[in-house]
Amino acid sequence: MENKYYQIITYGCQMNIHESEKLAGILEELGYKKTDKKENASVIVFNTCCIRQGAEDRAFGNIGALKGLKKKNKDLIIAVCGCMTQQKDRVEKIKSSYPFVDIVFGTHNLFMFKDLLIKRLNTNKRVYEISDDDRLMPEQTNMVRDDKFNAYVNIIYGCNNFCSYCIVPYVRGRERSRNFNEIVEEVKKLIDSDYKCITLLGQNVNSYGNDIEDSNVNFNNLLKTLANLDGDFTIKFMTSHPKDLSKEVIDTISENDKLSKEIHLPVQSGSNKILKLMNRRYTIEHYMETINYIKQKIPNVRLTTDIIVGFPGETEEDFMETYNLIKTVEYDGIFAYMYSVRTGTKAETMPDHLPLSVKNERVNKILNLEKEIQKKNGR
Ligand code: SAH
Ligand code: SF4
Ligand code: F3S
Repeated sequence: MENKYYQIITYGCQMNIHESEKLAGILEELGYKKTDKKENASVIVFNTCCIRQGAEDRAFGNIGALKGLKKKNKDLIIAVCGCMTQQKDRVEKIKSSYPFVDIVFGTHNLFMFKDLLIKRLNTNKRVYEISDDDRLMPEQTNMVRDDKFNAYVNIIYGCNNFCSYCIVPYVRGRERSRNFNEIVEEVKKLIDSDYKCITLLGQNVNSYGNDIEDSNVNFNNLLKTLANLDGDFTIKFMTSHPKDLSKEVIDTISENDKLSKEIHLPVQSGSNKILKLMNRRYTIEHYMETINYIKQKIPNVRLTTDIIVGFPGETEEDFMETYNLIKTVEYDGIFAYMYSVRTGTKAETMPDHLPLSVKNERVNKILNLEKEIQKKNGR
């Protein structure tokens, strides 16, 4: 067979990066090889993200830019999947405005990609497969991992938290934990294949096991079990939710050399009023208690966080509480975002949305503060 090539363009978080590795596995099973040149590709996949408007705009922009290529190469298959296509109105937009897209499938249909591609090749009709059923548990396919050093391992899919700004629970479904032994076996194999860093993935890793009856199946026991495996490796994990990161887990991290001392603990805001509106279900007092416990137990910790500025109703005083919290904690890294309204979320209908200029100003203040902290701490 003559060589056929594929390209996967991935947006969004580690979860999506990892899912692209699964898509790559499916394509390579079908005989396709990876290429970095669009012009050489027979299949181009856009694995999209919809966490903020900017992510969607970038994806639509880049999909649109393929129109010319498709005109030149009628056999080119263009597929769009991921979080963005789990939203019905976005699928309608692709149907009506991007007629050159061949396959559209949602986050719960990832494992069906092989069948969808074959269907498209055999029928010459556009293929749509978007399911609302999150119980279609993605099978662990033969993935093609991007990295030789770090390997991603899913431990829990979906999210039950419904933070009022966030689209993830709507596009990723409810929490489903993977089987404990399956995870341990996968990690063992990765260690045997010489991976030095294993990153456990979940929207809220601390919820691992909550949906499984056996009370021994929980995040703390998973960490302990993995840390006790033989070999030379580090276990990382993301993301932890401040309301669920327990002292036991912090103790486990502090006691095990194989558990990474990097903790990403998104605070989102320093104002209790805003945290309540965000439905984060912790107070700044609780958050600081956790941070202080971490610093006491793990003196060499590397702490990072996510911040959203300009949430509806955020006053200058609320913002300054966030600013001052950052000053107090002195994070090693900050991901600061301007609030972006997401259709269907609670925050969409809240009063007092802020103008872009205010969000811009606040996000810049945080970026400057971060620089100051890094300079001060010699990083
Ligand atoms: N499950 C993780 C990550 C979610 S997405 C967590 O709970 O932390 C990563 C980050 O994107 C979030 O932490 C938040 O800071 C940001 N984010 C999510 N929705 C957003 C929105 N509508 N506008 C701006 N930033 C958002
Ligand atoms: Fe979104 Fe909140 Fe779930 Fe994170 S915990 S994915 S921010 S709803
Ligand atoms: Fe984006 Fe989906 Fe991840 S919305 S941040 S790719 S879970």
